[in-house]
Amino acid sequence: MEAEKPIIEVKVLNKSFGENHVLRDFSLSLFQGENLVILGKSGSGKSVLIKCIIRLIEPDSGEIIIFDQDISELDQDEMDMLRADVGFLFQSNALYDSMTVRQNLEFPLRRHWTKEEREEKAEAAVLEALEDVGLSHTIDMMPAELSGGMRKRIALARTLILKPKVILYDEPTTGLDPITGREINELMLSIQKKYKTAAIIISHDMNCIRMTGNRVIMLIDGKNYAEGSFDELLKNTDPKVRDFFEGL
Ligand SMILES: Nc1ncnc2c1ncn2[C@@H]1O[C@H](COP(=O)(O)OP(=O)(O)OP(=O)(O)O)[C@@H](O)[C@H]1O
Ligand SMILES: [Mg+2]
Repeated sequence: MEAEKPIIEVKVLNKSFGENHVLRDFSLSLFQGENLVILGKSGSGKSVLIKCIIRLIEPDSGEIIIFDQDISELDQDEMDMLRADVGFLFQSNALYDSMTVRQNLEFPLRRHWTKEEREEKAEAAVLEALEDVGLSHTIDMMPAELSGGMRKRIALARTLILKPKVILYDEPTTGLDPITGREINELMLSIQKKYKTAAIIISHDMNCIRMTGNRVIMLIDGKNYAEGSFDELLKNTDPKVRDFFEGL
């Protein structure tokens, strides 16, 4: 049988900022339908990695292949098209404070849908995305009127509206209380189930990792240092892996 092909492949990626060598020959593969968790200490390069994957940051060397395309070879339009398939949830949510929830959700459609498509389908798409995150009633509210957990959900709804095939979550539960965090974890699982999306989830929240992760990678010293199920990593005796779990 032919081995399953990854939908995202990161190959020997390097990225430095001046003297700060953040990613050192980092590699990973993401497969269809799985939730891959990336664990790493603060400042280890998790956000840099995810930003390289959506090309907000240009790596110094290495390759990133998404759906069989080397993203460094794509022009602006091709990259934009790819971004519709690769949803990204920012660590900071990045909602537009001066726009209502509805306007925030409509925003990505401006870029990816024609005027006719928007007139025909935007309303239904906004309603469905809000329903997916359980916040239909907030449609006319401003971000300032929402709690932290609600904002995270709205940011997720804005990511979902384009029906991405992959979602990259940067610390989806950090800064939320444990109950709200749990709700976000459940939401990520229900989205994985409903849309069959794959996801890369950056986290250092143990509940998040346990609940959502099918596979875990530890980013240590800029490398894919250890990889396996959460339980396998917990049993790993390597001092740096142990050090990480004990430091949590
Ligand atoms: N645009 C940038 N310019 C210069 N240095 C940067 C830039 N972005 C990130 N860095 C540096 O790269 C390193 C990794 O940062 P990154 O944001 O990826 O950490 P992280 O693992 O996401 O941490 P956290 O868990 O706190 O979010 C840090 O030393 C940071 O200062
Ligand atoms: Mg980060």
